[in-house]
Amino acid sequence: MNVRLFKPSVGEAELQMIREAFDRSWIGLGPMVNEFEDAWKDFTGSRMAVGVNSATAALHLALALFRFPEGKKVLVPSLTFAATATAVLYNRLIPVFVDSDPVTLCMDLEDLERKYDRDCVAVIPVHYAGHPVPMEQLMPWARERGLKVVEDCAHTAGAIYQGKMLGTWGDIGCYSFEEKKLMTTGDGGMMVTDDPDLFQDLKAMRWVGIDKDNWKTAQQYTTANRDAMHWFYEINVLGYKYNMNDLAASIGLAQFKRLPEMSRRRSEVIRQYLDGLEGVPGVEPLLPFEPEKYCYQMFGIRADRRNELMIHLKSKGIATGCHYTPLSIQPLFGPWGHNCPFVEAEHERFITLPLHADLTDEEVEYVVEGIRAFHVEKLVSY
Ligand SMILES: Cc1ncc(COP(=O)(O)O)c(C=O)c1O
Repeated sequence: MNVRLFKPSVGEAELQMIREAFDRSWIGLGPMVNEFEDAWKDFTGSRMAVGVNSATAALHLALALFRFPEGKKVLVPSLTFAATATAVLYNRLIPVFVDSDPVTLCMDLEDLERKYDRDCVAVIPVHYAGHPVPMEQLMPWARERGLKVVEDCAHTAGAIYQGKMLGTWGDIGCYSFEEKKLMTTGDGGMMVTDDPDLFQDLKAMRWVGIDKDNWKTAQQYTTANRDAMHWFYEINVLGYKYNMNDLAASIGLAQFKRLPEMSRRRSEVIRQYLDGLEGVPGVEPLLPFEPEKYCYQMFGIRADRRNELMIHLKSKGIATGCHYTPLSIQPLFGPWGHNCPFVEAEHERFITLPLHADLTDEEVEYVVEGIRAFHVEKLVSY
């Protein structure tokens, strides 16, 4: 058996929507992006949703919108994907790495307080694996210090935490639709905000600085309003070519409809892992997963003799990973790193296990058996 670590769940429904985009022969920024943004706006209950071509772009733009003076600091977790911190560097700001909470692996709020100083201008909480950062504590803490809050929701989509959707607690929420995520557009992302001060610039900044609806403009080339200067636009801000396109949005619209069903399947898989691995010595869940409450993009364990277990699973055709090598020990971030002792040591016990919506019960059982067998064959003999 070969068990994949991640896999996008795509098929006929997505193909049908792609065909619709092809039939219209409009695959750039257009009506399907608008429709997907409207759907995401309603889904999250936000005042504005803007489609972009990745969460990396979303995080870059989110910080750019605030026009922080060069050299100010942004608090980010060490345990995250590179994009959370490269977004800080793209904006000529300084990343300040925060250690992980030993239990949840989200940003440790005590370390956050220790790392804060008056040069900090923003914080980027990451709902790691999909597990919520305690936003009811983080938000008042950030507000008291005048910090902007950008939620990195790459690992979550649609989870409600204490009555409020993740991604809508902070000033801006950034979601990812990269192929390994809870839903996908191949590559893509979405930004949400309720702050009207950000609306205008956000649309322009994801589209090379042009604040104009591309689709509407094209329709005006030939409509009856002969006086409309349909060709006119102004560039007032420095923008980027970060827009989502209709080809991506067509897949996104089909995936969006399937999101509840795909998230439900992921939760079932996690429950099966948790039950199956209970009591296996030397193995514990990566964090206190609550699959009936939240949606998770990743499942993993912390394991003794991690490397040997990974090689053992590999020999059985089971793909595994480690998410992540903490950024504070990555060479790029050397000048600002080596200051998160817990996660810099603990990540050597992390194993990410296969999780995707098409995973079968048999495959999950096979992974669980593979881990149990390692215990029996290898650990017991020592
Ligand atoms: C925590 C986190 N933030 C941001 C990103 C960037 O997402 P994208 O691939 O859509 O740029 C990822 C992608 O894996 C991620 O895991």
